[in-house]
Amino acid sequence: MTRDFGAAVTGSPDDPHEQARAAREQPLLLHSMAVFRELFETLFRCRDVAVVVEVGVESGQVSALYADLGATVHCVEPAPGDELRAVLDGDPRLNLVEGPSPAVLPDLPVADLYILDGDHNYAVVRDELAWIMANAPDAVVVLHDVLWPCGRRDSYYQPSPVAPRDAHPATTDGPTVWHDELTPAGFVGDGAYTVAERAGGPRNGVLTAVEDALDEAGDWRFQIVPAVFGFGVLARAGAPGTDAVFDALRPYTSSRLLAAMENNRIALYTRVLQLQYEAAARTEDATRLTETVNAQQQEIARLTSDLDRSRTENAARSRELQRLRDAPPAPPPAPDQELGAAVSNLGRALSARIRKTPESRP
Ligand SMILES: C[S@@+](CC[C@H](N)C(=O)[O-])C[C@H]1O[C@@H](n2cnc3c(N)ncnc32)[C@H](O)[C@@H]1O
Repeated sequence: MTRDFGAAVTGSPDDPHEQARAAREQPLLLHSMAVFRELFETLFRCRDVAVVVEVGVESGQVSALYADLGATVHCVEPAPGDELRAVLDGDPRLNLVEGPSPAVLPDLPVADLYILDGDHNYAVVRDELAWIMANAPDAVVVLHDVLWPCGRRDSYYQPSPVAPRDAHPATTDGPTVWHDELTPAGFVGDGAYTVAERAGGPRNGVLTAVEDALDEAGDWRFQIVPAVFGFGVLARAGAPGTDAVFDALRPYTSSRLLAAMENNRIALYTRVLQLQYEAAARTEDATRLTETVNAQQQEIARLTSDLDRSRTENAARSRELQRLRDAPPAPPPAPDQELGAAVSNLGRALSARIRKTPESRP
C-alpha cells in the first residue's frame, strides 16, 4: 500500500536509499531562490502576478519558475555570461535586461512582484526599495539574504558601482558563525564580491535597509521566512492580496523549527569551509615538504657520487703507494766511466812525475 507522507522523501523497504539519494543530489550549499518554489506558489495563489522583475539572475535556474507560475519575467543582470544568455534566449517568457538595478528599474514595466537578489548591500537595496515603494506601491517585494551573513553586513559585487561614500571599508575575507571576526577560512566571495569589514551599525546590510525603508514608508509590512539565508516579504498594508499573502506564509514566517534548522545549516556549512581551508593549507605544506625532501635527496645523491669518486681515487693512490713500497731498492749507481779514466790518467801522470823528480836533483 502506498502511503502519503506529504513532502517527506521516505523511500520504502525495497528502496531504503531514496532519501539519501535526494540529499546528495542537492548542492552542498543551498542558496538559490529555486528552493523557495512553494513560497512563490503560495504568493501567486494569493494575488495576481502578471509581471515579475527578477533582480540578480546568476545562472537563470529560477527565472523559468516565475514564468511557469504565469508571469512574464524581466531578468535583470549587469553582466550576463553566454550560458545565461542561452538559457534566457531559449524561453520567450523571459526578457534579459542587461544592466544594474536600481538604475534599470524605470526602464521596465511596473511589476506585480519584484524579487531582489542582486547586490546585497544597504546602498543598493535602499535605493531599490525607495524606487519600488514610490513607483509600484501595490507590488509585493521578495528580498533574499535578509539574514546572516548579509542581513547586517554589506556585500559588494565586484567591480562595485557603489560610490565610496556609500560603502563600508570592505575585505575579501569572509564571515563565519564560529566567531565574530572575518577570516579567509570563512564565507568568502572568491573574487566575485567583498564584504564590509564590520557588521552592524547604521546603513549596513540588507535587513537594515528594509527596516529603514519601513520606518520611512510607515504603511508597509514585512515578514521573514527564516530559511536559506532569509526570504523577506514586503508589501503595502491595504494593497491587493497583502493580508492573504502574510496569512498564507505565517506557518513559515513563524516557524522556530525553520529558524533552528537555518542556524544549524550555516553552522555546519561554515565548519565545512573551515575544514576545507585547513585541508588546503595542509596540502600546501605537504607539497612544500615534498619539494624540500626531493631537493635534499638530489643533494644526497650528488654528495654520494662525489664520495664514490673520491674513494676510487684514494684506492688508486693507496695501490700506487703500496707498489712503491714493495719495489726492490735500486742498485748503487755505476761509477762514471770518464771520471774513472780521468782518475787513472791523473794517477799515471803523477807516477811519471814522481819517477822523473830524483834525476833532476843536483
Ligand atoms: C545571489 S546571485 C542571484 C541568484 C539567483 N537569484 C538565484 O536565486 O538563483 C546574485 C546575482 O546578482 C547579480 N548582481 C549583482 N549586482 C547587481 C545589480 N546591481 N543588479 C542586478 N543584479 C546584480 C550578480 O551578478 C549575481 O548574478
